[in-house]
Amino acid sequence: MEQQRDQWATKIGLILAMAGNAVGLGNFVRFPTQVAQNGGGAFMVPYFIALFFLGIPVMWIEWVAGRYGGKYGHGTLGPTYYLMARERVKPRGALWWGVISGMLAFSLTVLLNSYYLHLIGWSAAYSYFSATGAYFGQSTGEFFSNYLGNHAQVMLFWGITVILLAIAVGQGVSKGIERWVKVMMPLLYVFAIIMVGYVFVLGSPIDPNWSTIDGFRFIWSPNWAYLKDHFATVMLAATGQIFFTLSLGMGIIQNYASYLGPDDDVALSGLATVSLNEFAEVVLGGSLAVPLATAYAPKIVPPEVLAQGKNEALAWIGQKFGLGFSYTSLPNVFVSMGDIGKLFGAMWFLLLWFAGFTSAIAMYNYLTALLEEDLNIKRKVGTWVVLVLYFIAGLPVVYISGYLDQVDAWVSFQLTLLALFDIIVAVYLFKPDNFWKELHQGAYMKVPGWYKPILLYIAPILLLIPLIGSAQSLVGATLEWPARLAII
Ligand code: PHE
Repeated sequence: MEQQRDQWATKIGLILAMAGNAVGLGNFVRFPTQVAQNGGGAFMVPYFIALFFLGIPVMWIEWVAGRYGGKYGHGTLGPTYYLMARERVKPRGALWWGVISGMLAFSLTVLLNSYYLHLIGWSAAYSYFSATGAYFGQSTGEFFSNYLGNHAQVMLFWGITVILLAIAVGQGVSKGIERWVKVMMPLLYVFAIIMVGYVFVLGSPIDPNWSTIDGFRFIWSPNWAYLKDHFATVMLAATGQIFFTLSLGMGIIQNYASYLGPDDDVALSGLATVSLNEFAEVVLGGSLAVPLATAYAPKIVPPEVLAQGKNEALAWIGQKFGLGFSYTSLPNVFVSMGDIGKLFGAMWFLLLWFAGFTSAIAMYNYLTALLEEDLNIKRKVGTWVVLVLYFIAGLPVVYISGYLDQVDAWVSFQLTLLALFDIIVAVYLFKPDNFWKELHQGAYMKVPGWYKPILLYIAPILLLIPLIGSAQSLVGATLEWPARLAII
């Protein structure tokens, strides 16, 4: 008799796992960066358009596809899309759809993890450095480059993270992943809410001219003129952010959804995942790094820029914001907070670590499921195979500078390409009516009929924006690549 496939034990566990999958570094670092660099509040208009017309439809498509594959005992994209395509295409053709989407999802997961896991490792290290005050009283920029130069240390924190991932995933879905996220996700929200509360009462901690309000104003006041002049770029940034933050176009939502029962709700649960992610992104993510950076602007903006006036200083923060900012500029904020800064910094980086970990666990499970179900390798053994794979894929991050941007361009392009496959295979080849029926199977809510044309026509058209845009930046990054290597 065939062994029973693992299933989520509780509804809350499933929702927290899915939210953990979506809530990641993207919510707390990438989102504020995108807002700051794309016209502040004006960014939110295309952002919500992309969420409503593209993000939610693709989220539903991936949930439906995953549960469908799970019914046949498959948790990975290849076999699932083969089965779905068969509704309209002959088996040989369907096989190709399965093989290509499976290969896309596999390479994407390995590529993304080659750097994502390192970023999480840095967060673990910086949580520790904050708690011990390691960078206090030093140049934080220098401290960061020394840290990156110390490969043994970088690999230590990477290793701790990946071994914990292997252990959690090795325990299985209901007994491992579900238990881990049930602890981590509530903690993540509690940490974030405590920190946001602190930011709300912070006011002007060091200089009456600079307050957290400046940051909120910077994020939320809409710059319509900017939106008008840069509409295409802002739209591209907004759709790209929606994809990244919801973890769409990876095959991992499908993998998690494959552990549902055939009559478990997907419509409302998909929406709940989106809501939890958007709360963590727009409300919490938007209220932390930027307001903090502006309240402490005199400590992080170079004096010559400060002297030019407030708008210039704010523009400087907007420009510099990004990944490096978290490890070089924000530590200056924590240092300026005094002793409480140690606690605050430790919490901020631990928050990033939780956020990244619960996303990485989903990707880890996807690869393990691939080995387990498609290649018959035992789960516990598979987790160590994945670890070795990650180790090798991650080496370029440590040894080749500039690798990160290059591979990020690839990842953005592949994410949207795979989302296109989602729509083609799981809706069109599977047949739209079958899809609509599946979406409502066991559903706790009825999706209004007017949403169907959005899903069928508007979502794929909107998808062309990030598809073309990311293809363009991919070409740009690739052309730049030899020059970068030459510099090394
Ligand atoms: N959604 C995650 C974040 O916001 C990133 C991610 C994308 C994780 C795709 C897995 C897959 O950080």
